[in-house]
Amino acid sequence: MVRQVFTGSMIHADENGEVIFKESVTILVEDGKIIDVTENPDQQKIDDFHADEVNNLSPGQFIVPGFIDCHIHAVQFPNLGLGYDKTVLDWLEAYTFPLERQFIDQQFAEKVFDIVVKRSLQTGTTTACYFSCLYTEASVILAEKCSQFGQRAFVGKVNMNVPRDDGYYESTDKSIESTLAFIKAVEQIGNPIIRPIITPRHALKCDMELMQELAKIAKEKDLHIQSHIAEDRDEKEIVKEVYGDTTCTAVYDSAGLLTNKTILAHGIYLEDSELNTLAKRGTAIIHCPSSNINLKSGLCDVRRLNANNIDVGLGTDVSGGASYSILDEMGLVLHVSNSLFLTGHDNVPFDYKDVFFMATLGGAKALSIEDKVGNFMAGKEFDALVIDLNAENSLLDNFTDYTLEENLQRFIYSGDDRNILSVYVKGRKVK
Ligand code: GUN
Ligand code: FE
Repeated sequence: MVRQVFTGSMIHADENGEVIFKESVTILVEDGKIIDVTENPDQQKIDDFHADEVNNLSPGQFIVPGFIDCHIHAVQFPNLGLGYDKTVLDWLEAYTFPLERQFIDQQFAEKVFDIVVKRSLQTGTTTACYFSCLYTEASVILAEKCSQFGQRAFVGKVNMNVPRDDGYYESTDKSIESTLAFIKAVEQIGNPIIRPIITPRHALKCDMELMQELAKIAKEKDLHIQSHIAEDRDEKEIVKEVYGDTTCTAVYDSAGLLTNKTILAHGIYLEDSELNTLAKRGTAIIHCPSSNINLKSGLCDVRRLNANNIDVGLGTDVSGGASYSILDEMGLVLHVSNSLFLTGHDNVPFDYKDVFFMATLGGAKALSIEDKVGNFMAGKEFDALVIDLNAENSLLDNFTDYTLEENLQRFIYSGDDRNILSVYVKGRKVK
């Protein structure tokens, strides 16, 4: 049994989405699980815990829940920053699919995924929801890397069965067979924080038969599902051409893909009827502002999603997104929100507390894992970041005394991974 104590300032969101600031708390952790969170506890209580490890935070430091990246393409890391002269459909063909095909080479996959998981942990992503590629072997390597380096992860082997000239698709039978093999291999890793996720890429890349079969597998095995939706205007029109005058939500719903464990990236161009269906099914939308701006997809009105009772998490959407840092993504959520405000589409722009919620408990709710992570409640697992505003060479200098609330603002607007001193996943120190 391993017992850890953390003492110092703490910030997290409570169940109501309220951001709570505590100047001095003590968190007791046993085998990765939070046992107790107390404000100003007496020393006797700490002594009685007989900790193996005591961490006393210094002035300028505070502890926050780990960040949750609900949508990231691990295979697209090598293309960060590339191809933003295009919009999404052309970008996929010109840059993305040619790169993903290279992951047939397992050595290449090993080299890339080693870096992906290490780096994403360094930026404070304690839970990542990954898209891999079509290939089972590479996708299993990604899951193994997450387990090795200690990142909580959902890992998806991508499904595509609509024929293409470059051969980057599978037959329906092969797609199902390799998905089942992938699920089995991930379960054999035997690490409860690593889960397979069913990953039909998009309604234009999978046919109805495949989507229905994948929905059945998800139901039988009680798995999460991830895909893309309403990212781009042209794409939305093509969905109508292929499936008749309908919406992407209706297509996914008739396949049985919409559950309370389904997350869909983007959701910029959803119609009111789609919002209604998504809310009824408990399906969440993942907001990816970096990608949406780089590829000129559009400005997602997150307030409209919230008003329709849809949970919203954040995704870096590498490599549509140009950074794998959720902290960078938070800044872009604020930029997009301010842009909607300045163009008269939103009366109340989001602030730093709103994005802090989205990056932590909001992401956990979107993924329906808020019983495990997202904030510091007794009984949850300890996924946490120690933030240090005195970090050497960071952009921030402490010229005067700031309140804890001011320090969170400064970190969100002007901080970077140099201010993320240490990272813990289920109690294990991974940075
Ligand atoms: N739609 C289908 N696949 C993708 C992808 O890899 N990235 C983005 N941004 N959109 C997609
Ligand atoms: Fe994506």
